[in-house]
Amino acid sequence: MIKMIKVSAPGKLMLFGDHAVVHNRPCIVTAVDHRISVSLNKRNDNKIFLNAPDMNIEDYKISIRNLRKQHPKKVRFVLTAIKNFFEKYKIESGLDVKTKSEFSSKFGLGSSSAVTVSTLKGLSELFGIKINNKELFDLSYKTVLDIQDVGSGFDVAAAIYGGTLYFVTGGKIIEPINIKELPLVVGYTGIKADTATLVKMLYRKLAENPETINKNFDDSAKIVDEARIEIQKNNWKRVGKLMNFNQELLRGLDVSSLELEKLISASKNVGAYGAKLSGAGGGDCMIAITDKENFNNVVNAIEKEHGTFIEVKLNAEGVRVEK
Ligand code: MEV
Repeated sequence: MIKMIKVSAPGKLMLFGDHAVVHNRPCIVTAVDHRISVSLNKRNDNKIFLNAPDMNIEDYKISIRNLRKQHPKKVRFVLTAIKNFFEKYKIESGLDVKTKSEFSSKFGLGSSSAVTVSTLKGLSELFGIKINNKELFDLSYKTVLDIQDVGSGFDVAAAIYGGTLYFVTGGKIIEPINIKELPLVVGYTGIKADTATLVKMLYRKLAENPETINKNFDDSAKIVDEARIEIQKNNWKRVGKLMNFNQELLRGLDVSSLELEKLISASKNVGAYGAKLSGAGGGDCMIAITDKENFNNVVNAIEKEHGTFIEVKLNAEGVRVEK
């Protein structure tokens, strides 16, 4: 019987340290229980068949000889992961690959990193090659960088380790943070952020104005270090304050937007302790921290401002092989 392997990985939400984490500072990221799964089967020929119904990809077929060629954006993460795995472990095999997503890639919740991690973990299971989490991180991060050029790898770490993590650029530090709860409201602006463009803009700003931008990143690092402690104490009032400080820094980097600011103000106006953008900015999602009693008021305030409330369970389990 042909062995089929199915692996799933969670998405992510950046809580603190957005952008600064690209530049050797820490961030805090939590894994969200919107998962992407990848199913893999060996084939007896040299073809790869990819089906990704959530992305309208049906029977995308290539020969393994052509893995190095340019492929449409939608299939690039899976195919580059396969290419990197085959190269590293000197393997060649035809494959049937199917992906399934519990969330839309438009929210910016980390679908590319989750699909990359699931594919690589699935391949290691399929070919019986033991790789530990750090090796999985390095190969997944390389794959993401091959395609996107830029990024800290925080999303890859969330997909692999799950939970809530204190993370420094490129996986220099990946440490779990123990949290029991996190009363966070997530609001989607309806606008897709262009992460790579914003990250590249900040490289330019840093080159033009190193003192100011480095100071901004250093301040972000201080906020992250304090937030790490306060989150574990469930001190949501202080966590909210720290979110507001972090948002001020992000505004100073010009990565916020009118839509984000509207949802952030609306949340704070009904009593959220703090709110900020989450991720690259320019769109995607914002987060607000609130007392549990006030949760629904914050949700309603976001919806009144035409944001979409996204229900997520945080602190989700990392990559896993599905039975
Ligand atoms: C994007 O979701 C978060 C950034 O910090 C980029 C990254 O860390 O890769 C802006």
